[in-house]
Amino acid sequence: MKLFCVGCGPGDPELLTVRAVNLIKSAEVIFAPTAREGKPSIALSVVEKYIDRSTKTVSLVFPMVKDRESLKDYWKRNAEEIAGTVRSGKSVVYLTVGDPALYSTWIYIHRELKRNHKDVEVEVVPGIASMFAIAAKAQISLAEGEETVAVVPACYDMERVRRTANACDTVIFLKDGRYFDSVIEMLGLAGFPDDATIAIAQDVSDEGEILEVKKLSELLGKKGPTEKYFSIMVAKKNARD
Ligand SMILES: C[S@@+](CC[C@H](N)C(=O)[O-])C[C@H]1O[C@@H](n2cnc3c(N)ncnc32)[C@H](O)[C@@H]1O
Repeated sequence: MKLFCVGCGPGDPELLTVRAVNLIKSAEVIFAPTAREGKPSIALSVVEKYIDRSTKTVSLVFPMVKDRESLKDYWKRNAEEIAGTVRSGKSVVYLTVGDPALYSTWIYIHRELKRNHKDVEVEVVPGIASMFAIAAKAQISLAEGEETVAVVPACYDMERVRRTANACDTVIFLKDGRYFDSVIEMLGLAGFPDDATIAIAQDVSDEGEILEVKKLSELLGKKGPTEKYFSIMVAKKNARD
């Protein structure tokens, strides 16, 4: 009675661990998150080529809304469905994009299982997070020596972003790429020099990847290349790379 949560990396099916591939290949049921009914799951599409024909795939809806109360019903129902399938004796995998520990729907499922389905054993298989995929593609380091790093999700409170950016050497911005332009305009106020390195990517390591690595001064007053939810930006104060 064990559930495997498998991190499936940033998008390239080659960027999965051997353990992840083996578990996906041998799974009888694979659950994966999607934002709404009928929308294909990104996690499922990443690992498609490893899924056996006999494997049942189930997309579970996790709506992109902020109201935690309505979300709780989804977390509860989804955890119940997963737990029921594990109890039936089948080999079950829950997929998540990147790594399960970073802004993943898995966190809510895991908490529900620990609270209300204590008989279900869990193993978490880490995956390559999008921040490491962009660092590899842009050929930059995220931190070295004494440097500090912050990770910021789609945040529209620019004063909060400024304080975070002020305190850190590298800031990684995730989620909705449309807020990156306003962040770029603010970075100077947070102590980022004109020659700070900024890497921006959309769909990194996946089809249609967009990647730009520029100096802060080259981006000021311009419209950035990212408009999608699957966007990531790394801002480095120290322009060593
Ligand atoms: C719900 S979070 C999941 C993060 C994921 N668990 C990870 O380890 O990277 C989704 C966000 O991750 C980032 N992301 C994940 N994969 C990405 C990719 N291939 N390209 C660009 N951004 C990506 C985007 O910021 C996206 O909005």
